[in-house]
Amino acid sequence: MNWSFNQSSNYKKILDDDKENKRAEIHSFHRYYGKLIPSIPRAYIKSFTKKGDTVGDLFSGSGTVAVEAKLMGRNFFGCEINPLSVFISKVKTTTYNIEILKSINTDIEKSIYDEKYLNSLPKRKKPFCVNMDHWFKPEVTADLLQILEIIDDKTSHLANDEKEKYKSFYYAVVSSIIRNISNADPQHVFPGISKRIRKLEAEGKIHKNAKKTFINAIKKRTKYFIPYESADATNIEIINGDSVNDNFDNYKNKIDLFVTNPPYISSVRYIETMKLEMYWLEYLKDQNEYSYLAKQMVGNDKVGKKEINSNLKTEYEEINNKINKLSKIDSKSAYIVTKYFNDMEKVIKNMYSMLKENGKVVVKISESKVKKNKIDTGKFLTIIALNNGFKLVDVFLDKINENSRSLTTARNSYSDIIINDNIIIWEKKSNGRI
Ligand SMILES: C[S@@+](CC[C@H](N)C(=O)[O-])C[C@H]1O[C@@H](n2cnc3c(N)ncnc32)[C@H](O)[C@@H]1O
Repeated sequence: MNWSFNQSSNYKKILDDDKENKRAEIHSFHRYYGKLIPSIPRAYIKSFTKKGDTVGDLFSGSGTVAVEAKLMGRNFFGCEINPLSVFISKVKTTTYNIEILKSINTDIEKSIYDEKYLNSLPKRKKPFCVNMDHWFKPEVTADLLQILEIIDDKTSHLANDEKEKYKSFYYAVVSSIIRNISNADPQHVFPGISKRIRKLEAEGKIHKNAKKTFINAIKKRTKYFIPYESADATNIEIINGDSVNDNFDNYKNKIDLFVTNPPYISSVRYIETMKLEMYWLEYLKDQNEYSYLAKQMVGNDKVGKKEINSNLKTEYEEINNKINKLSKIDSKSAYIVTKYFNDMEKVIKNMYSMLKENGKVVVKISESKVKKNKIDTGKFLTIIALNNGFKLVDVFLDKINENSRSLTTARNSYSDIIINDNIIIWEKKSNGRI
């Protein structure tokens, strides 16, 4: 395989040109680590598909690709393992009636400080949250419980299907403000109370006001949905599933283009970054659910000593050579890397069978360092893709963005700094292997 970065890539030019355009505000609905820059899906959805086509992403996260597909009149199919991410991305791709949102907003704002009204509401139980008092001030917890009750009440008059739709908007807004009103440092990837925050706290500079933050957030986020009012009606489907092990036979030959950024090798414990939001929206009802979900993440490092199988290999000599080198340094890292590529092979096979003939996959991935060993993740994934019926169309380097740079500060003993973003384009060959 000829693996060299195309310095004069036309596809890079298309992407760089698109970066000049303003991104849709809806992308700012919710923080999400590892979010794609919207230009990546936008540029390639525009180049490779037309209105009415279907775009896919088997690691759909907070729905960046879904949003861009919807804005451009394309259908979308996504799969994502984290139920909170599925929830957020569904809300972000819903067409709301802005007038209805505005009227509920006004109603909520009028009632949120009305003691008589608040006393008439049922008293809500605290959700499961490990160390609730460590993460939230008692007044913030009390306000959040009230806000959730207010949302239920103020959407209760709507017809059944509308009720879920509008309630979801307000719950998603609650999720979007959780980190800011918690005691954790909002600048950190993982929730934690940093020195910076302790200092600000000691100086009396931290004022958390859940109700005020919520009111500002619903008004601001309502406006984000305005562009959908003039967008074409499309079908957006996002399922909560495991892209490695689930069966996607129903979607055979249905997808025109995948745009995706898969998880990096053990660089981010996605669940941990979102745990406070997941507690509040009751997606983690006990510690077992947390551990179970964390272990299903591609590239996760939740590997017990007994699980490490040093006989596990990939089908590929070049990848195995790297694994053998790693296993001399640390058998756990070697196992994590092997499992990562074997899991990604299953996802690549799934994408292949879901794509129409000559359909394309645009992958954004970074090289990683594991125990100071550079892993050419993009190259290795391409070796796997070519063996599974794809051809390589292009590969070039993209400047690493600030969002993904913050991931590199994650405390993690298995992965090191992420060096470069690769953009890789594969195409399903008409006479492929599968
Ligand atoms: C880099 S993020 C994708 C972010 C997304 N493009 C966005 O802009 O929000 C990778 C995603 O893969 C998801 N993921 C990890 N393992 C998965 C699996 N086995 N099946 C489906 N999704 C998985 C993670 O939860 C995470 O949301």
